Amino acid sequence: MTLESVPDRYAVIGNPIEHSKSPQVHALFAQQTGQAMQYERLLAPVDRFADSVHEFIAQGARGANVTVPFKLEAFALAQERTPRAQAAGAVNTLSFSADGIKGDNTDGIGLVRDITRNAGVPLRSRSVLLLGAGGAARGVILPLIEESIAGLVIANRTQPRAMELAQQFSHSDVPVSSATFEQLDQSFDVIINATSASLDAELPPLPDCVFGPQTLAYDMMYGAQPTIFMQHAAQRGAAVRDGLGMLIEQAAEAFFVWRGVRPETAPVYQWLRGQL
Ligand code: ATR
Repeated sequence: MTLESVPDRYAVIGNPIEHSKSPQVHALFAQQTGQAMQYERLLAPVDRFADSVHEFIAQGARGANVTVPFKLEAFALAQERTPRAQAAGAVNTLSFSADGIKGDNTDGIGLVRDITRNAGVPLRSRSVLLLGAGGAARGVILPLIEESIAGLVIANRTQPRAMELAQQFSHSDVPVSSATFEQLDQSFDVIINATSASLDAELPPLPDCVFGPQTLAYDMMYGAQPTIFMQHAAQRGAAVRDGLGMLIEQAAEAFFVWRGVRPETAPVYQWLRGQL
């Protein structure tokens, strides 16, 4: 094998990692766009993330996706960060070059693309309710604001976390405020569940008034069955969508960051939906 024919190496790094769908998604993107690349799963010991990244770089790697529990460490490790990584306070996409390690975050734009393009729901001038104030919530705020939404309310079980997060985005062009679930007293065009409640088959205690006839209720989680949040919202008349499209769109954006080529996401979405 000549040097030119060695495919560029990428990986998804996490712990655990065996269930990650990213290798299949990127393999399909690479096949579709004719990119010579190889994408693997890399299990990093919980206390050896930075070492694992440096070892991978030493092997000639060009980039990596980062997943639980390392997105904050990836942020700290990056020598340069994009504005959307800066706003998210977390990194899910690393690029390695002679200039060093660059950190990006494609989660938020993945969510926005899935809502606006795949679900066909425009975000411009729409009211948005974001449930949760952890890393998943924080990662999507700047891309939502950049869509010129009418306003953003962040609601969280522990209200000080929501207040703190709203405060961080208080200088943006879009009004951003915080609330407890109980304080919510209006309906929203789009409700995004960024809590980890669905993982425990739990539901944020939302008043029914948040769901209007035009509401899109979006759960960042996904699975073979609709999440409990989606079931609850659908019973109240909302349109519902799970986070599978976000997973694929964030991967497509990472692929674009690395390769400068945008893959078609629809066939990959169909294929992965069939695998669940
Ligand atoms: P992630 O990085 O996935 O966002 P996290 O930082 O641990 O993880 O945040 C989890 C989010 O889900 C938090 O907003 C959490 O609410 P608290 O800040 O009050 O802990 C929210 N969450 C988890 N379980 C929940 C439940 N059963 N009901 C409502 N919110 C829940």
